[in-house]
Amino acid sequence: MQHYLSLQDIDSLSQWVEEAKSLKAAPLQHKSLGAGKTICLLFFNNSLRTRLSTQKAAMNLGMEVIVMNFGSEGWALEYGDGTIMDQGTSEHIKEAAKVVAQYCDVVGIRAFASLTNKEQDEAEVVLNNFKKYAGIPVINMESSVGHPLQALADAITLSENNSKKKPKVVLSWAPHPKALPHAVANSFVEMMHLQDADFVITHPKGYDLNPEITKNTKIEYDQDKALEDADFVYVKNWSNYQDYGKVLNQDKNWTMTAKKLGKAKFMHCLPVRRNVVVTDEVLDGEQSLVIEQAKNRTYAAQIVLKKVLASLE
Ligand code: CP
Repeated sequence: MQHYLSLQDIDSLSQWVEEAKSLKAAPLQHKSLGAGKTICLLFFNNSLRTRLSTQKAAMNLGMEVIVMNFGSEGWALEYGDGTIMDQGTSEHIKEAAKVVAQYCDVVGIRAFASLTNKEQDEAEVVLNNFKKYAGIPVINMESSVGHPLQALADAITLSENNSKKKPKVVLSWAPHPKALPHAVANSFVEMMHLQDADFVITHPKGYDLNPEITKNTKIEYDQDKALEDADFVYVKNWSNYQDYGKVLNQDKNWTMTAKKLGKAKFMHCLPVRRNVVVTDEVLDGEQSLVIEQAKNRTYAAQIVLKKVLASLE
């Protein structure tokens, strides 16, 4: 495997989850694999978990790590071919990506959706241009349309906490005051398509995700009905996809409460707004898996890096 850009780069999710669990049991077992290798982590957007867990994963494999807040500290990049660069951008991706690649062996990129230009977001301009010009493996640390490291960590968390042959898993939209991207929900849906589960998405009418991603997934607009007999409830806000990037609904009736959750385990990628997306009672309760999910980010990143390093040998 050269790049890790989406869930499609996983050849067997169940095998990767088992390998990640083995890394979790003994994180330093491949400490020499990354010796002499460097990863650059470039952040065009904020991060806590992705930044620290990917760095930790690389260190567990013996890699050197360079981190740059590219969005705030790098030059504004130009992506257009043949652009006359007499406006706001200072450096073309063609040079920037090739320069970065001289300093490292693998590059991780975080570049969120603009939520203003659907076509450009769906073209994954930042990620794909680094892939095109850097000539080294690229890892998606959350792009416009996907967050495959998060989804892999979620698969590990599901595996560790599931006791049923076919659990019921619900992805529930929740309110949020700001316009958030679709990436986490998209990758969670794609990951669930690789699982043997009764998977349901619930959201207000008009808040459908990209139908090319949800495909034949069951959609239930009545949240209470969707949550009946759920084993796992993954809560996430996303902004409107049809009226792209708009916040058209902040209905507090969709906030996840202990009553709605019932006996199910609660999942969220974090960061989360307490008492908007989910109540304190749920987050502080024993059914919450959010801290485990964040812990598993390290082992998701570590299994990805291990496979990328193997491809460099
Ligand atoms: N879940 C997640 O990606 O967290 P950060 O945005 O803090 O990295």
